[in-house]
Amino acid sequence: MRRIILAGNWKMHKTQEEALEFLQGFMPQIEKTPEDREVVLCVPFTTLGVVSKNLHGSRVQLGAQNVHWEKTGAFTGEISAPMLVEIGARYVVVGHSERRQYFGETDETVNKRLLAAQSNGLQPILCVGESKQQRDAGETESHIIRQLEEDLVGVNQENLVIAYEPIWAIGTGDTCNSKDANEVVGLIRSKLSNANVTIQYGGSVKPDNIDEIMAQPEIDGVLVGGASLSPDSWARIVNYK
Ligand code: PGA
Repeated sequence: MRRIILAGNWKMHKTQEEALEFLQGFMPQIEKTPEDREVVLCVPFTTLGVVSKNLHGSRVQLGAQNVHWEKTGAFTGEISAPMLVEIGARYVVVGHSERRQYFGETDETVNKRLLAAQSNGLQPILCVGESKQQRDAGETESHIIRQLEEDLVGVNQENLVIAYEPIWAIGTGDTCNSKDANEVVGLIRSKLSNANVTIQYGGSVKPDNIDEIMAQPEIDGVLVGGASLSPDSWARIVNYK
């Protein structure tokens, strides 16, 4: 069975106080959300503690936005999987295009982070997707297949979520046409050994396009940046029709 997973990615937004304010506005709006929808919030490292405490006993799962492959060591600025597990995280975003683009993340380090997340009991959300240039050159398919081949070496597909995030659609308001997104998600599924992996779409998901996106047969959920920052828009997305 493919699970429905709706994950918010706050990126570098919200102080602890702002995070609490968000939860106050958001939590009452998901009392009637169908039980078969997993709701996840991937928050900055500094708000994990306070969000974890406040989500305790609720249906919302906590996620982080990156994880190092070693358990401990001289890696200034990094956070390890046992640290995330202890604080209550269950999910972690790995290989987001912003990490790849701005912080030198490679398919090799993405693979190491995936393996470390899994071996410590975290569920990784692997992000893949093409740039505008690659799409225009007709290289979407070959690029994504290569990313999957390199990122998934040795990775257990029983404990994995994949997010298809076309880079040109992230934070631009330029959503990928839902049928095109559905097609690429189907392509990703055809390359996996486990066809039941939850595959999300991400890139300018908003309250006004969520219903259409979730109506696509291959798409099992969404990874949402900007529209997960306000309680009302995130609740509307989680309560898609
Ligand atoms: P966006 O970001 O929803 O703001 O486009 C999506 C993401 O980067 O995960």
